[in-house]
Amino acid sequence: MNVPNRIRLGVVGCGAISGAYLGMAKNFPIVQVVACADLDMEKARAKAAEYGVPKVLGVDQLLESPEIDLVMNLTVPRAHVATALRAVENGKHTYSEKPLGVDRAEGMKLLEAAKKKNVLVGCAPDTFMGSGIQTARKLLDEGIIGRPVAFTAMMMCPGHEHWHPSPEFYYQAGGGPMFDMGPYYLTALLNLLGPVKRISGMASVAISLRTITSRDKYGQTIVVQTPDHVCGMLEFQNGAVGSLITSFATRFPTYDWQQPITIYGTEGTMRVIDPNTFDGPVHYRRKDDADWVEAPPQFVTGYGRSVGVADMAFALQGGRAHRASGSQAMAVLDLMRGFLDSSESGRSYEPVTSYERPAPMPAGLPFGVLDL
Ligand SMILES: NC(=O)c1ccc[n+]([C@@H]2O[C@H](COP(=O)([O-])OP(=O)(O)OC[C@H]3O[C@@H](n4cnc5c(N)ncnc54)[C@H](O)[C@@H]3O)[C@@H](O)[C@H]2O)c1
Repeated sequence: MNVPNRIRLGVVGCGAISGAYLGMAKNFPIVQVVACADLDMEKARAKAAEYGVPKVLGVDQLLESPEIDLVMNLTVPRAHVATALRAVENGKHTYSEKPLGVDRAEGMKLLEAAKKKNVLVGCAPDTFMGSGIQTARKLLDEGIIGRPVAFTAMMMCPGHEHWHPSPEFYYQAGGGPMFDMGPYYLTALLNLLGPVKRISGMASVAISLRTITSRDKYGQTIVVQTPDHVCGMLEFQNGAVGSLITSFATRFPTYDWQQPITIYGTEGTMRVIDPNTFDGPVHYRRKDDADWVEAPPQFVTGYGRSVGVADMAFALQGGRAHRASGSQAMAVLDLMRGFLDSSESGRSYEPVTSYERPAPMPAGLPFGVLDL
């Protein structure tokens, strides 16, 4: 594998989330955004101007450009695999927004193609690399609450049509609350608790017709084509059993939005940050503690979306594994589909993919540096 000193990035998909990547990527000298593209050239031009990206290319041009080493794929879910496959076929590494794909078959197809071409596949989320989940993982591994027994995890909201300029994809295959927000929760839970043994799910379309109330498409309607309310139980190989609720059909939830995951152990309980964020307080309370204890962050704070891509760049140079990997995202995709499959079959689902936790983040390195 030929690895340049600085990994040259091309961004495909210049919509709502692209600014978060383009802004944060500047903090990692190991990567350099050299071009961006979108089906809508106007969007690509606007983002290039805003973030100082040197070139705007057509999508095909970018995917074929010899000046690009890694394609950051920020398109909508149903275009993730098609776009990533084209990058891979051209010998480029790829990092996609979540989910990896809309079903298991296309996720596997991408990973196999990348293996053949000897290139890396990365996938969001990279929020688990932030200080919040990393600190929680370290404390759990140290046994601060004993052996994890149970957990609850919740992501409940009314949906995204009141704010997103083009919310249709949230209600198509590859969308819904599980495929949209499940990746954050499941990636965090896998990092905290390890591989899953089995799951059982129940899913429904609770609100079948949506009216957009964000500005550009105000008043247009969306027919919901995928479950907008997905719940389930997960049994982890370490014995912990708990529940996950993801919903785009609920209002005024009463759980703590800042710490929506609680893990109950034999010796105490831990409250974990919103896995859609990087930093935030972790609290625990052991059986003899008079009150909750706030754990200070034990890892670098301030990271944002694109730390996963920077980690891929360090991995390429150091010959080590990257953390926000395609195989982790494949395990998450397998579980997300599993909730829907279990709901349809009425039986529990056992994952067909294996999972191994990525290495913890390094502690004590300067901001923006992920390897010595
Ligand atoms: N918006 C958010 O807050 C948010 C947060 C985290 C993750 N994400 C994820 O990021 C991805 C993009 O979301 P978004 O909110 O930016 O969507 P968006 O609709 O605002 O932007 C997607 C962009 O991709 C372009 N596009 C679509 N298909 C394409 C193709 N085949 N080739 C090239 N360009 C194509 C569209 O023209 C559009 O500009 C989704 O997978 C979503 O789940 C979004």
